[in-house]
Amino acid sequence: MGELRGTHIPVLLERCVELLAPALNRGDRTVHVDATLGLGGHAESILDRFPNTVLIGLDRDPEALAHARARLTRYADRIHLVHAVYDELPEVLDRLGYDRIDGALFDLGVSSLQLDAPDRGFAYAREAPLDMRMDQTTGMTAEEVVNSYSHAELARVLRVYGEEKFASRIAAAIIRERERSRLTSSARLAELVRDSIPAPARRTGGHPAKRTFQALRIEVNRELAALEAALPAALDALALGGRMVVLSYHSLEDRITKQALAARARSTGPVDLPVELPGTGPTLRLLSRGAELPHASEVDANPRAASVRLRAAERIDPESTTDLQRIGRTDRERSRRTGKALRTSSALRSGSTVDRKDLPQDNTGTEEEGEGL
Ligand SMILES: C[S@@+](CC[C@H](N)C(=O)[O-])C[C@H]1O[C@@H](n2cnc3c(N)ncnc32)[C@H](O)[C@@H]1O
Repeated sequence: MGELRGTHIPVLLERCVELLAPALNRGDRTVHVDATLGLGGHAESILDRFPNTVLIGLDRDPEALAHARARLTRYADRIHLVHAVYDELPEVLDRLGYDRIDGALFDLGVSSLQLDAPDRGFAYAREAPLDMRMDQTTGMTAEEVVNSYSHAELARVLRVYGEEKFASRIAAAIIRERERSRLTSSARLAELVRDSIPAPARRTGGHPAKRTFQALRIEVNRELAALEAALPAALDALALGGRMVVLSYHSLEDRITKQALAARARSTGPVDLPVELPGTGPTLRLLSRGAELPHASEVDANPRAASVRLRAAERIDPESTTDLQRIGRTDRERSRRTGKALRTSSALRSGSTVDRKDLPQDNTGTEEEGEGL
């Protein structure tokens, strides 16, 4: 196993550490979950800067785990590295005997180890078998997907997960090709995609096969379903004052993250009551206003950071007035404003006259998002 440390720069490292610090820097012992350990870049910094923190590192890729284990040997007495999909977090915590965690980091997507591996099929620029499984010990490969899905299924995967405008044409080309012979090579797939896209469209948006490869990878690894289950599970495990940071690289990942955080950052009580009913207050405080983007200097140094979106939140006590005050404007006020915005926009749609001055002035999120999401 080669030394990979220099080939992977952890994305938004300082910002992640800064956001997690208040949760990890308290008490004699804190517990941090790195749900996507990868090569252990973020994990190493956490262990280095928080000497009282125990790290639970998960990865579904045994190869990544082996690299991280080698990298983190000097912290062996306070790490647990586990081969697991991150939606298995509750079972992992149970097995290890932890019922609460203080920090959680999700750095989604693939690692440079996976992208650069000549034999794993993630990269469109390399000749490799069409595998794309993050865990090569189990599950369906990209080869099985492209050779067995119907035209409609393939087109849906490419359109939804790859945001590919030419999904139907690419799916048709794949089906034509496989009728001649089984499609087994990443280079041949990349060629098919390029030939399916009209020449003017090929000149924009990077390599023409990028979106198709991303879509197949998401499908093969069932990435979005795992994320939808994992985020609520990790939030459930957070102790009061515990913090979670999520780095997404795809709009669908970011949307799932935004919704998981938003669901707990707002009141579930009736909007028109002046006080919060017991059990209906927000259980999260958002630490980022909208999604945070990287600075240009980080993208220059680390092109992988170009598409990152960071969201973070802290677990709060819905019964504590101090916690509610820390949110700033209470969630109750936010709910009222969102309700008012929705009533106003439906009034506008139905043709009622509403004075512009009645529209919320300080709502910088979208109507759907509400403030601060
Ligand atoms: C971007 S890398 C993480 C890099 C890491 N933060 C670092 O600094 O080295 C993402 C890692 O998450 C793993 N991964 C992706 N989806 C996963 C899932 N559902 N469960 C567990 N691990 C996952 C991948 O195998 C990959 O190693």
